[in-house]
Amino acid sequence: MHPHIWYPYTQAKTAPEPLRVKSAQGVWLELADDRKIIDCISSWWVNLHGHAHPKIAEAIYQQAKTLEQVIFAGFTHDPAEQLAEKLVSKLPAGFSRVFYSDNGSTAVEVALKMSYQYWANLQQPRSTFLAFEGAYHGDTFGAMSIGQSLFTQAFTDLLFNVESVPFPETYIGDRTVVEREQHILSLLENKLQQNPDRYVGFIIEPLVQGAGGMRMCRPEFCKTLPSCSKVQYFGDF
Ligand SMILES: Cc1ncc(COP(=O)(O)O)c(C=O)c1O
Repeated sequence: MHPHIWYPYTQAKTAPEPLRVKSAQGVWLELADDRKIIDCISSWWVNLHGHAHPKIAEAIYQQAKTLEQVIFAGFTHDPAEQLAEKLVSKLPAGFSRVFYSDNGSTAVEVALKMSYQYWANLQQPRSTFLAFEGAYHGDTFGAMSIGQSLFTQAFTDLLFNVESVPFPETYIGDRTVVEREQHILSLLENKLQQNPDRYVGFIIEPLVQGAGGMRMCRPEFCKTLPSCSKVQYFGDF
């Protein structure tokens, strides 16, 4: 362990020495001792296109030479607009805008704040969010609140109000999934009907709870969710 670094999700006293990575190409990590190993989790599911992809490296290089970043309030530029158009074209109907944030956790914070502010602007303030059991949405305080687990226990006093329903985890050949999905949808409906003014919105990791253990749900379930509520719906992609 380097004496000047806290490594994430790592017990500094008991964890083994981290592997020293020299470089990476595609799926391969090249270690300082010349071993090559496969990066099976895409470095925490971030390097989806492989490491040091020449096309991505070239695009970053070209863009950095042209305009590396600029204040985005009162200013705009072509790459941001083009990306927003491409993203919106792939989203389900009803999602028409993109807000750029720096990482997964702060993207979740933005979504929480937007939905909270929506109700505040309507003069109908609400403060309880709905989430799925086993969810992970990041390590900032809002994200921890909607993904409470062993990792967030030390911070419980600082987290806000969230109610959870089970996640309809499924697998090939699962014969009870439709029944379980119906049960979860009716749990949600009941909550929304009994307390129509309580909930700000609900959040889901569409299709897979990654950190929760690669737990898959059916696309049909994600598609049905928005229709079962009048609260704000947002997916943590
Ligand atoms: C579904 C989901 N949301 C949010 C996050 C947090 O992202 P970040 O680590 O970029 O803050 C993660 C990270 O794994 C995630 O899997």
